[in-house]
Amino acid sequence: MDIYSVSNAAYIVAALLFILSLAGLSRHESAKSGLTYGIVGMAVALVATVLLVIDQNSDYGSGATIPLMLIAVVVGAGIGLWRAKIVEMTGMPELIAALHSFVGLAAVLIGVNGHLEGSHEPLASLINIHEAEVSIGIFIGAVTFTGSIVANLKLSGKMKSDPLMLPGKNVINVGSLAVFAILTVVYVSGHEGDTLQDVVLVALTVLALALGWHLVASIGGGDMPVVVSMLNSYSGWAAAASGFLLGNDLLIVTGALVGSSGAYLSYIMCKAMNRSFISVIAGGFGIAPPSGDAVDYGEHREIQAEAAADLLASASSVVITPGYGMAVAQAQYPVAELTAKLRAKGVEVRFGIHPVAGRLPGHMNVLLAEAKVPYDIVLEMDEINDDFPSTDVVLVIGANDTVNPAALDEPNSPIAGMPVLEVWNARDVIVFKRSMAPGYAGVQNPLFFKENSQMLFGDAKDKVEEIVRNLS
Ligand code: TAP
Repeated sequence: MDIYSVSNAAYIVAALLFILSLAGLSRHESAKSGLTYGIVGMAVALVATVLLVIDQNSDYGSGATIPLMLIAVVVGAGIGLWRAKIVEMTGMPELIAALHSFVGLAAVLIGVNGHLEGSHEPLASLINIHEAEVSIGIFIGAVTFTGSIVANLKLSGKMKSDPLMLPGKNVINVGSLAVFAILTVVYVSGHEGDTLQDVVLVALTVLALALGWHLVASIGGGDMPVVVSMLNSYSGWAAAASGFLLGNDLLIVTGALVGSSGAYLSYIMCKAMNRSFISVIAGGFGIAPPSGDAVDYGEHREIQAEAAADLLASASSVVITPGYGMAVAQAQYPVAELTAKLRAKGVEVRFGIHPVAGRLPGHMNVLLAEAKVPYDIVLEMDEINDDFPSTDVVLVIGANDTVNPAALDEPNSPIAGMPVLEVWNARDVIVFKRSMAPGYAGVQNPLFFKENSQMLFGDAKDKVEEIVRNLS
């Protein structure tokens, strides 16, 4: 068997492993084996690709290819390992956004290479297909590239999370798509090597870069989870487009897997956040500017850890709704200890998890699993929302947007329509945070001013530990 056949067989094995990986990652219990399938699949794919390049290299006799490829692999793997090692869990979404931008950039560069190299095809129809692949690959790649950069800047707090409100933003988005279609037709009907084709491709690239920037800049902070999964999907389609250009079947299959699973995740997120899937893809939601703090919600009340411990000790049912602040404070361990202590006293303790609590899908579930909180008391928002009226005490630990009643009560709020944990229906609510600052979406939270709410100010970890000490 020659190297070409072996590599292609290995590609099929890798593709199957990636499918098993996705299937495994969809459930807690099988997530670890899902990761292993993914790692093995990627190793198989990498070795097969290196073998393929060595094989092709011996045909074409370009001595620089292999050393260049090895340098790229070593440098890339080194940077990847270093970043993965130092990244905090709370910094994952911005890292993921940065990685998506690399996929986008790679797709653009592969497209440019496809343009410069030409198609080497004998038939006009095949040349046209190649040109369409170049144009579509560059477009998706460039949109993914700048969109992901904006997402990275917003998620890391280097850019304000407010939506950019250019006049006629929908016209800009739809108009850009129309101009892209026209430019593609002009590009495909041109002749290989013509200056006109070069100019059209530059115009198309600039248009796509600007569109990617605008699409994500127009979306408000509260809607960023959908944007991240949408960019994940775009990066998959960008990779698939590169696969067509390079004639690499595995890249096509893997890109399609990432693209479709990312699209499905975006759909699930849209449903969870009550947003329209189509308007997300068009960058058309999150359009209302933050309403600011203009509304006077009255005075808030405060509670100290000792009194909170007394309240908990006399409760018979407690629900804990964690959010991003629990991750920042790394409060999951004392929270697990508090849970165990209350359960030992006969108090029913459950967790209510909002689908976008924290900064990445499943963020809270991972933290709670890390601290060994039993899975069966960790419930989804839909499973717990009806139980708040019969709950004695809710502990809101570092959550804000996900427990904000403005989402239901204020139609002009940027988070209007998003389902939230209706914690205010419980008898008592204790909110753990360090100040009265708004949450990620930049919206003030009327929950803090409700009569049955009390603020417990300070670092969530310190405060939970203080409560644990005070629980007799
Ligand atoms: P957020 O609205 O982000 O609020 C977190 C709260 O934690 C803040 O109000 C902050 O208040 C508090 N906090 C921070 N550090 C703390 C500490 N050390 N101790 C105590 N409190 C601390 O939280 P959320 O309810 O989880 O909502 C998540 C938001 O992120 C949503 O808007 C969501 O759309 C967005 N988002 C989610 C994702 C995914 S996929 N989950 C991805 C991107 C964006 P202080 O500063 O006053 O302490």
